Amino acid sequence: MNFLPPEIEAYSENISSPESPVLKKLNRDTHAKVLRPRMLSGHLQGKLLEMISCMLRPSRILEVGTYTGYSAICMAQGLKPSGKLHTIDHNPELEDFAKEYIVQAGLKDSIIQHIGEALEILPALDETFDMAFIDADKENYITYFDQIFEKTNKGGVILADNVLWSGKVLQEDIKNDPETEGIVRFNEYVKNHSGIRNLLLPFRDGLMISQKI
Ligand SMILES: C[S@@+](CC[C@H](N)C(=O)[O-])C[C@H]1O[C@@H](n2cnc3c(N)ncnc32)[C@H](O)[C@@H]1O
Repeated sequence: MNFLPPEIEAYSENISSPESPVLKKLNRDTHAKVLRPRMLSGHLQGKLLEMISCMLRPSRILEVGTYTGYSAICMAQGLKPSGKLHTIDHNPELEDFAKEYIVQAGLKDSIIQHIGEALEILPALDETFDMAFIDADKENYITYFDQIFEKTNKGGVILADNVLWSGKVLQEDIKNDPETEGIVRFNEYVKNHSGIRNLLLPFRDGLMISQKI
């Protein structure tokens, strides 16, 4: 869900740096050809991810939830020369679609796609990261956070999407709703974590920003 009124979102998009032609085409083609296009980060969130990455200048970025590659392409803009972005998705049907746009964006040597269960791939990655973006199954957010935290360098930033979950985080009864329960538990977990400073940014569907201290 997007909490921004559509006219405010359109105005903000108009004032912000434009989507690159490749991202604009990817956005359009995802809406035309792929199921659940609302999952794509889109212009404003993409610019935010790009900007955070450009400020951090990471050597290594990790993403859980590639989908069609939009957010990966945005975050890769800030990579140091010879930096790499690892992105994981368990849907093999999206691999070639995303790859096509990664190539068009000139990032085929910078973005490494992993196809499979994030819970299996993450522990096997022999890397440390400066930036990460968690944007997949909500029930596993805490586990992803823990696995990533271990591999995050001091000062590194871990982002997590959908942490307001269309406002369902305010629901009193979350017991029969595993996704909402996953997000609510994750938010409390981050709040009480002693190794980070964090901000729940009420932008779009809610973006948690945690920096390892
Ligand atoms: C919200 S979409 C990602 C959107 C993308 N980050 C963007 O902003 O354009 C979530 C993706 O996570 C993937 N996913 C869900 N559960 C997963 C799991 N257990 N392991 C790996 N990928 C998973 C889905 O296949 C889907 O493509």
